[in-house]
Amino acid sequence: MPQLTAIITGASEGLGKSFAIELAQRNFNLVLVALPGSSLPQLASYIRKNFNIRVDELEMDLTDADAYPGIFNYLHLTGITAHMLINNAGLGNWAWFEDKNILFYKKQIELNVITPVLLTRLFLEQCDKAETSYILNVGSLGGLFVVPKKQVYGATKSFIRYFTKCLQLELSGSKVRISLLSPGGINTKPELLVMNNKLKGIGKATIMEAEDVARIAIDGLLKGKKEIIPGLANRFLVLLNSMLPGVVKESIIRNRLKLILKS
Ligand SMILES: NC(=O)c1ccc[n+]([C@@H]2O[C@H](COP(=O)([O-])OP(=O)(O)OC[C@H]3O[C@@H](n4cnc5c(N)ncnc54)[C@H](OP(=O)(O)O)[C@@H]3O)[C@@H](O)[C@H]2O)c1
Repeated sequence: MPQLTAIITGASEGLGKSFAIELAQRNFNLVLVALPGSSLPQLASYIRKNFNIRVDELEMDLTDADAYPGIFNYLHLTGITAHMLINNAGLGNWAWFEDKNILFYKKQIELNVITPVLLTRLFLEQCDKAETSYILNVGSLGGLFVVPKKQVYGATKSFIRYFTKCLQLELSGSKVRISLLSPGGINTKPELLVMNNKLKGIGKATIMEAEDVARIAIDGLLKGKKEIIPGLANRFLVLLNSMLPGVVKESIIRNRLKLILKS
């Protein structure tokens, strides 16, 4: 198989970094994107040393609408055609709505919603229509369940769910495969690890490591799966969610809210 090229947004840390290593192991050339001043150059040089692939790194703020068409200008100038786009960069939060200021929400909506939509649009423009191309949109189970303190984050991930499912219909019959990744909690940062370690029972069972999520996601994407839900416990929760009546779900959420208010 000829070497294919994947663009990964938010590649310096967390899940994005795991995607980079997973795809390097599968012999993909990489275009890695993250904020200026991140650990991206170190990751790129580690991958270059350990894998026989081409790695290009682009440091830019993906909430800057003028900056990110630069990804595709760069590809055009360097003669690279990308075959895969991983829309991974995202900004989460765990806070009451009134505890974050408007600039935070503006950034969150820009990074989680506007950036993936516009990058997808630009990616499709440069695709070789005769070859298979892949898009992975990183959503979250938070886009399916109503979780207090995740109001705007969950809404952005619901947007990504709708957007991806709709594009799947529009692009059926083409050579573009588009998958939605819906993970539960992932141990991507020390603060999440501390929080996740306090969980018990099914809550604890839903937490996964970034390397496992990345491997399952790329397997699913290459197989053309429409939605990838890593982990048995997470798939069980989604099944339960589809079976429970709305009133029962609301009562579970209200009980959870009481617990959160006490903590
Ligand atoms: N962690 C979870 O529990 C979880 C669960 C479900 C879904 N997800 C989703 O998975 C994705 C990755 O999450 P994560 O936990 O791995 O996140 P993370 O550790 O915070 O990593 C985010 C990445 O995005 C980059 N980034 C942030 N703002 C950017 C901007 N304005 N422009 C360019 N790059 C930017 C960061 O670069 P810097 O290093 O320079 O900041 C970093 O590489 C997100 O879409 C998230 O919503 C995460």
